[in-house]
Amino acid sequence: MKLTNTSLAAVFFLAALSFAHFSCTSKQPIPADLSKVNFIPKPVSVTATGSSFELTAQTGIYVQGETEEVKKVGQYLAEKLKPAIGAAPEVKTAAEAPKSGIYLTLAANDPELGDEGYNLTVTEDLVTLAANQPAGLFRGVQTIRQMLPAELESGEKLDSAWILASGTIRDFPSYGFRGSMLDVSRHFFSVEDVKRYIDLLASYKLNVLHLHLSDDQGWRIEIKSWPELTKIGGSTEVGGGEGGFYTQEQYADIVKYAQDRFITIIPEIDMPGHTNAALASYAELNCDGKARELYTGTEVGFSTLCTDKEITYKFIDDVVKELAALTPGPYIHVGGDESHATKKDDYIFFINKVQDIVRSHGKTMLGWDETAQANLDANSVVQLWASPDFARMAVSKGAKIVMSPATKVYLDMQYDSTTRLGLHWAAYIEVDSGYIWDPATLIPGISKENILGIEAPLWSETITNMDDIEYMVFPRLPGIAEIAWSPKDGRNWEEYKVRLGKHGQRMDKMEIGYYRSPLVPWGEELR
Ligand code: ACM
Repeated sequence: MKLTNTSLAAVFFLAALSFAHFSCTSKQPIPADLSKVNFIPKPVSVTATGSSFELTAQTGIYVQGETEEVKKVGQYLAEKLKPAIGAAPEVKTAAEAPKSGIYLTLAANDPELGDEGYNLTVTEDLVTLAANQPAGLFRGVQTIRQMLPAELESGEKLDSAWILASGTIRDFPSYGFRGSMLDVSRHFFSVEDVKRYIDLLASYKLNVLHLHLSDDQGWRIEIKSWPELTKIGGSTEVGGGEGGFYTQEQYADIVKYAQDRFITIIPEIDMPGHTNAALASYAELNCDGKARELYTGTEVGFSTLCTDKEITYKFIDDVVKELAALTPGPYIHVGGDESHATKKDDYIFFINKVQDIVRSHGKTMLGWDETAQANLDANSVVQLWASPDFARMAVSKGAKIVMSPATKVYLDMQYDSTTRLGLHWAAYIEVDSGYIWDPATLIPGISKENILGIEAPLWSETITNMDDIEYMVFPRLPGIAEIAWSPKDGRNWEEYKVRLGKHGQRMDKMEIGYYRSPLVPWGEELR
């Protein structure tokens, strides 16, 4: 093609323009194009305006008003920006938007954003994050993290400037309940591991951590009125290791750590089945009055509390009372799954009584899908894992559903037959399969208005340490976070897998030991 003067001028103009969009010479240029940032979960809307805001040692963080919670979000952002700026920027209060800097305000005045949505506006001078509630600011801060180069997460130096592409983001979640479950009973995990897990959930805008605190193999939460539960029931785990438990102080510390990240802890005491650890700790909880042996295998369905003994309900009342007092969130999870050693009538009688106990301590009952057979309160919540029929039964009783279909979100399911950890009784769940489904259409008769949210459980029969956790959870959990947060119409595996591939570098910098699925084009985060 022969270049005319006009087209030559156009080429020079475009070259100059694109040069201007790269912050300076860098191994890894970051263009100031907000539309090319690899967000997970994908925001509701992103509009690029083609320039950028540069973070420097002089950048200040300004929070509007005196709310302690807003200041704390400002401090959290300051800590996250420390690697970029060299020191955590000072957080100052401001009555109105400053001329330059980062401004956090609760004056979004935008009901559609709800409690967790936010509007983010980036100009060359000012980054404005506006929400209705502190939780919305916190979710928006996660978005800001993902706008900066992945090195932010490792604290490495960058050859180029730290810039945020300019434009606006408007964002709010599809579902108000977005969670994961950690089974700390089959294998016990330390407070430090749980805190890391909470941080990882927070990065993807999740807001629930369900802790499976008791099962046949271990009782993991101190109950002061029944001390043998942890002394005996907490003394081992699958495979015969030493187990462990959280003291009430440690549990309170976990709850607080989660609360600071706007994550609700849901404690689960699984009953009437999955109770061998309790039955080994106290002989009187058994119908025959004989304590069971501790159990370190992985079978299910053999244990049951004695549903017609008074002491059983005194025990549950004491446990729920202590747990409720330590748990600010609205739910107590009572398990209720796989109670194969409990007669059906006894099971229904039992769950009805347990629901009363939970209510009497000011909490709402959450249970696995089998609990739908009880006389559910209208505000009780049922967690679908296996049975569409039970989920529909729950909906017919006015209950809401948490969607945890084992074939899609069970994070302990192997990716394929070669995965070194995990099980496959529900399915092999490759990264595409875990992403390509929609909660509102998966189960006939269950639609979006029946669904409270989505939760991805990690059972730990084969999971023994944080490396194992990360390998099974990542990269499937970010996809589930996107299903729970982002609008359905914008979700598409072919597009997502490219975004996830580029996101791999960020997970590397976060030191997440993820499964490098062959279905994902892993690459550099060149946007
Ligand atoms: C379950 O997987 N037994 C809830």
